[in-house]
Amino acid sequence: MTMVHQRRLDGPDGRWGEMMRHARALIGAGAAAAVATWWFTDSAPYPYSQRWLLDLPLPFLTLRRLDRVLRAREGERILEIGPGTGLQSLHVAPQLGPDGRLDIVDVQPEMLDHVGRRAKERGIDNIVPSCTDAHELPYADDSFDAAYLVTALGEIPDPTRTLAELRRVLKPFGRLVVGEFFDRHQIRPSTLIALAEEAGLRVARLYGPPFAYYAVLRPIGA
Ligand SMILES: C[S@@+](CC[C@H](N)C(=O)[O-])C[C@H]1O[C@@H](n2cnc3c(N)ncnc32)[C@H](O)[C@@H]1O
Repeated sequence: MTMVHQRRLDGPDGRWGEMMRHARALIGAGAAAAVATWWFTDSAPYPYSQRWLLDLPLPFLTLRRLDRVLRAREGERILEIGPGTGLQSLHVAPQLGPDGRLDIVDVQPEMLDHVGRRAKERGIDNIVPSCTDAHELPYADDSFDAAYLVTALGEIPDPTRTLAELRRVLKPFGRLVVGEFFDRHQIRPSTLIALAEEAGLRVARLYGPPFAYYAVLRPIGA
């Protein structure tokens, strides 16, 4: 009788085994809740420690497609928000020529320094960095011919305010390109259309599937 009782407490079917199963289930549920909370609420900028991932090409959000939607021209002044390690900056800046200029804005100085080093290695000298939060851009109204953000808008805590700032610094007939990829921060096309309108912009065209698209926006009334 004592041995049977002992086995009931110790074995996988005993009370002890049951308690362990409950404890594991609780820990699992707690971990899942923590991951879900982080997934939906974390607004930290993309970590510099994982920068190598930013240099991997994203399907549909290719540089070739960016060229087709942005249409950068020599002599233009263009603004990029959230350049990360410079995948797009180092591609766009040379297209602007010596009389053009690419301003890049990022909240993380490590990212801007990284782009600066890579630009120097390639002899690109028309990139001007600004370590600033995109919610408040340090530029005068009507400063830019065009602006773009690739996998950055969804990461910025207040995208409507950012779009309104972009609208302010764009010339009246300026163009804005937003590239968004299916990750936890993604802004879907339908959401972008609504946010843009609040900011005085309209989505003129969408390129690519909804999970990896570029949108071209124009100031309302342009
Ligand atoms: C996912 S990375 C995208 C990098 C690059 N555009 C690319 O596609 O490889 C997002 C970038 O946005 C920047 N960022 C996040 N929040 C920001 C904010 N509030 N203002 C300015 N930049 C921000 C991050 O520091 C990071 O460099």
